[in-house]
Amino acid sequence: MNAIAFHHVTLTLGGRDILSEVDLAIPENAFIGVLGPNGAGKTTMMRAILGLLRPAAGIIDVLGAPATRGNASVGYMPQTRGIASTAGLCGWDFVAAAVDGHRWGLPILDAAGRRDVQRVLDLVGASDLARRPLGEMSGGERQRLLLAQSLLGSPRLLLLDEPLISLDPRYQRAMVELISSLQRELGLTVLFSAHELNPLLGALDQVLYLGGGHAALGTVDEVITGPVLSRLYGSDIEVVHLNGRIFVMSGAHEIERDDHQHDHGHGHGDGHTHHV
Ligand SMILES: Nc1ncnc2c1ncn2[C@@H]1O[C@H](COP(=O)(O)OP(=O)(O)OP(=O)(O)O)[C@@H](O)[C@H]1O
Ligand SMILES: [Mg+2]
Repeated sequence: MNAIAFHHVTLTLGGRDILSEVDLAIPENAFIGVLGPNGAGKTTMMRAILGLLRPAAGIIDVLGAPATRGNASVGYMPQTRGIASTAGLCGWDFVAAAVDGHRWGLPILDAAGRRDVQRVLDLVGASDLARRPLGEMSGGERQRLLLAQSLLGSPRLLLLDEPLISLDPRYQRAMVELISSLQRELGLTVLFSAHELNPLLGALDQVLYLGGGHAALGTVDEVITGPVLSRLYGSDIEVVHLNGRIFVMSGAHEIERDDHQHDHGHGHGDGHTHHV
């Protein structure tokens, strides 16, 4: 069985096609890097897999059944994180608040709920954060708690939307290694969106690259090539390999680096052509 299958899927927002007639099959037990420029549709695709956005056309199957809201087999770490109002919570309460979808209430947990909170805190190595207030934690520590939340209820498919955002390179590596080892240990399928390919290179099985309303899925060698990316960006793209790193170039500028500096905004119209 596939973890995710798209059959001729079109996703539309505000009257515009974000993805057009996409067909793809993601196997179970794989680490998939989801890449593509700002606005390519990475977040939109994850929301559709979660059943939060119905396709305008086509069918999305998730773990063998049509995508539907509230599927307990799917864990999600959203890109937009409403953390400001939670500064006073300790780590344990923050994770506990996500049990059973009681996201911002503070449910009285039964023993099974408490065990699950402790289990996910242990899984992400955050037991030492249980008693500390969120307001005093670093960005990386909070991100680990968000990862813990997404693991509640033992999902088989994890959708992680930009888990590396605002982390420095050392913490980025630690986060990728943590998620990669959880993926293997628990036999999960992970979709991990990011703005840069290089931090994911050692971990990923396949790349799902979005651009121009289309998707390309395959190994790094199959997808991260001049011809494939030129088709997705609709302009000439060159791929440069250097010291074990990969650089995606549009003329003289490096696409991912430029995108990364704007990673919260859409449509910044800076005159480059990498907005598709
Ligand atoms: N509610 C909405 N109504 C209309 N258009 C929307 C809506 N939400 C998103 N969009 C547009 O859909 C496109 C895809 O957005 P999406 O957030 O999926 O991109 P993304 O690949 O996740 O980008 P980023 O890398 O910046 O996170 C963008 O052009 C965005 O402006
Ligand atoms: Mg996004």
